[in-house]
Amino acid sequence: MLIANSRASRDAYPGVLKSILNVEAAEQSRAWLSAWSLISRGATPLWDLNDAAAQLGVAHISVKDEAFRSPLGSFKALGAPIALIRLVMRLWPTHDVDPKALIVGGYAEMVANLTVVSATDGNHGKALAAAAQAVGCQCVIVLHANVSVERERAIAAYGARIVRIAGSYDESVEHAAALAKANGWQVVSDTSYEGYEAIPRDVMQGYGAIAAEIVEQSSMSGAARSAFTHVFLQGGVGGLAAGIASFLWERYGAARPRFIVVEPSQADCLYQSAIAGYATKATGSVDSVMAGLACGEASPLAWKILDRCIDDFMLIDDRDAIDAMRLLAAGGGNDVPIVAGESGAAGFAGLCVLMRSPELARAVGLDRHSRVLVISTEGATAPDVYAELAGESSQAVAARQQAWLCNTVR
Ligand SMILES: Cc1ncc(COP(=O)(O)O)c(C=O)c1O
Repeated sequence: MLIANSRASRDAYPGVLKSILNVEAAEQSRAWLSAWSLISRGATPLWDLNDAAAQLGVAHISVKDEAFRSPLGSFKALGAPIALIRLVMRLWPTHDVDPKALIVGGYAEMVANLTVVSATDGNHGKALAAAAQAVGCQCVIVLHANVSVERERAIAAYGARIVRIAGSYDESVEHAAALAKANGWQVVSDTSYEGYEAIPRDVMQGYGAIAAEIVEQSSMSGAARSAFTHVFLQGGVGGLAAGIASFLWERYGAARPRFIVVEPSQADCLYQSAIAGYATKATGSVDSVMAGLACGEASPLAWKILDRCIDDFMLIDDRDAIDAMRLLAAGGGNDVPIVAGESGAAGFAGLCVLMRSPELARAVGLDRHSRVLVISTEGATAPDVYAELAGESSQAVAARQQAWLCNTVR
């Protein structure tokens, strides 16, 4: 299913949105995190998939591979740590906190009694737990019923206390807020709600680093037009899409690429928001193999951005995501094998679904001249699930990737 958003604008990036997310703050966040050992030095790869482009019928496909962002395995390593840094700076305004020293434990004594809490479907919670451990504060993570034990263990490994609830993701968000209120803890959530916007804004701002790298890797410096005609962005609560789209919109203005948001059919909160014209809830079961995208309610703050710049919203099935994981893992010929997890492969899956139907491809202006960017937002963040769905372990795919790189003169 696909719908066009008639409210999407091609005017210059509006000042009102700039006060939420902007290129300057994204660059600042990126510089601060460069000191952290859990963020990789240098940009994550931007792979070109020439064979896949030829097979699908577009001119060019690039995949920004966020599996390389961090040992944490996903782009979420850019969000929670930045929000925690900015939170500590707000809580201790007179201490002249140095953000680069903070993230390597330079203020551990000062923050020892601070407790941060969040709900998560996995990746955000792991990033928050790791950031809390790095700065030296306490962390409590609330997990809903569908978060796998494998993901729970990965979060607990970073020293977080786990609270498991029987309900859904949205109920876990409410539970985290209630725990914070009762105990005087600070919620560090990647989704906003009424009266709670500063921290999710900081989380989204952290994701802008991905867009900053993409611009550097793909454009001649100072180029007025993006190297891409179309950018596919997978949607959970909308933070990733808002972080990337706002950056590219501010950078390229009217010459920005066309943005397409991809969600699981069962967790269609952004698609439903596009129909309603305001941030709203999903209509489906919110249970998808794409764990990171299984969110029942759009972030109202993210929606303020998405409403104005996402050109199309589309839904995919779990089967589409699994097929995309397998295609990316296969590589071969001119294409590097890529380890893309269930949510990570969703953007590429969206492209494949549209290119299967001449009518859908036409509706979004995709043709043999299109230059497409997709973002693989995670590697095998749940390795057992990955192996089951991809039919091959992530180590085996990574080994084939290494072999491809050794054999290919790049
Ligand atoms: C791997 C992955 N991709 C994409 C997303 C979507 O991000 P957002 O919820 O900010 O829209 C998530 C969210 O957890 C994720 O874990």
